[in-house]
Formats: sequence, structure tokens, C-alpha cells
Amino acid sequence: MFNARSLSATITFCIACIVSGCDVKIKPIEGGKEIAQEAERHKVKRLTQQDILNAARKAGDSVVALATQQWDARLIEQLTQGGVAAAMPHCQPENYEEVEALQHKYGAISRRVSGRPRNPQNQLDAQVTTTLQRYTQSQSDSAEVVALNQEELLYTAPIYVRQENCLNCHGTPGKELAPADYTLIQEKYPKDQAINYKKGDLIGMWHITFDKADFVAFLNDQPKKSRRRR
Ligand code: HEC
Repeated sequence: MFNARSLSATITFCIACIVSGCDVKIKPIEGGKEIAQEAERHKVKRLTQQDILNAARKAGDSVVALATQQWDARLIEQLTQGGVAAAMPHCQPENYEEVEALQHKYGAISRRVSGRPRNPQNQLDAQVTTTLQRYTQSQSDSAEVVALNQEELLYTAPIYVRQENCLNCHGTPGKELAPADYTLIQEKYPKDQAINYKKGDLIGMWHITFDKADFVAFLNDQPKKSRRRR
């Protein structure tokens, strides 16, 4: 029931609350700044399809640049030290540890493909034949990115015989390619077709697929969605 006593008790209580309320200091939340920065970092960016393709192109370029730099350095070192036999195990730049680490960061898988490969696993499939033909005709150095479907993006870039030392293993047998070295190559790759090249020829193509969801997660600094593995 409502009476004068309970009313005055309520009023006293309210006044006490208001007065003590004035004394309460608002303490900053510990680590508040860091939390705000974290929240900002996790805010999902609005990315258009074009933004994603542009970013994939840059990411693909960085994988190719790293792989090419390491590949050239290893070829020079190994060929000087132990010739073709020593350099052979270093001819898969897409599998170098540093390159794998970088592509993993992007949710990408890189391969090198060719119309007439040394390793049959590097055979170009029909899907990208026209892309390779375009590179052959244009002699262009620039990479391309397309959406293969809703889930995957494909980055391609041409690979030219850019150095004389490529010919130690891809040149003409009996000329730049020493017969003993050619025998060594054929023992390991009985179906080898990657010979008779000249300096400047197109010898293959980088073929890097991106899992789109993983790549967008990378761009947003968030954990990967899929568990895609090679
Ligand atoms: C020491 C020998 C050697 C040298 C030097 C060499 N390669 Fe190769 N190359 C190989 C071998 C072996 C493979 C097969 C690798 C594999 O099993 O995937 C290969 C594969 C390739 C492929 C993948 C397609 C295919 O044929 O299987 C490309 C592209 C390629 N080489 C380009 C080059 C270029 C460009 C250079 C010079 C920068 C070069 N190679 C130098 C031995 C060599």
C-alpha cells in the first residue's frame, strides 16, 4: 500500500542514489584503446568484386616476384657449384618454403603450367590454353586475374626464358643442353617435352588460384574460412 512513510523512504533512497552517483568516477575500460583498434581492424570492409580482383593481382605479383627472385638465385648458385645435377632439385619454385608460406597467407595455390611440359603434372589444361596463347601472341609481361566461378579466382602470368642459364636444361640437346645432362633429365622425366627453347621464348605460365572466401578473409584481417589444402 502506498503511504507517507514509504513515499519518504523512496525519496530518501532516490536522493542517496543521485548524491552517491555524483561521486562515481567513470573509470576507463582497461585496454579500451586496444579494443577499439581491434574492432576497427575487424570491421568488414566493403569490397567490390573489382577491389578483390585488383588485390588478387597484387598478391599474385608478390608471390611471383618472391618465387622468381629465389629461383634465379638458387639456379645461379647451384649451377655454379655443381652444374645441372645439383640444380635439378631446385626447379620447383612454387614449392619453396618461403613461397608456400606467402601463398598460404593469401589462401592461394601456385603452379607453373606449360603446353609441352617437362613434368606431365604441369600440363596446361584446356581452360587456360587461350590465356597462354594470348601471352604467346602479345609477348606481354603483365598478369591477369579472372573469377573462375563464385569461389575461385585465377591469376596468370607468363614465364619467359629470361636467362641464358635456362637453356642449360631447356635448350637444344647437343648445343646448350649437354648430352650427359639431357640423359640425366630424361631419366627423371621420361616424358620431357621442355627442350629446344631459345632465349626470350615463352616457356610456361604461372597459374595461381585463390580461394575467394579465404582471400577476402585475408584482406579483412580475419581467420580463413575454408580448410583448402593443396
Ligand atoms: C637445372 C636444370 C634446369 C634449369 C637451369 C631450368 N629448369 Fe625449368 N625445369 C627443370 C625441371 C627439372 C623441371 C620440372 C620440375 C617439376 O618436376 O615440376 C622444370 C620445369 C620448368 C617449368 C614448368 C613446366 C614444365 O616444363 O614442367 C617451367 C615453366 C620452367 N622449368 C622454366 C624455366 C626457366 C624460365 C628457367 C630459367 C630461369 C629454367 N626453367 C631453368 C629444370 C631446369
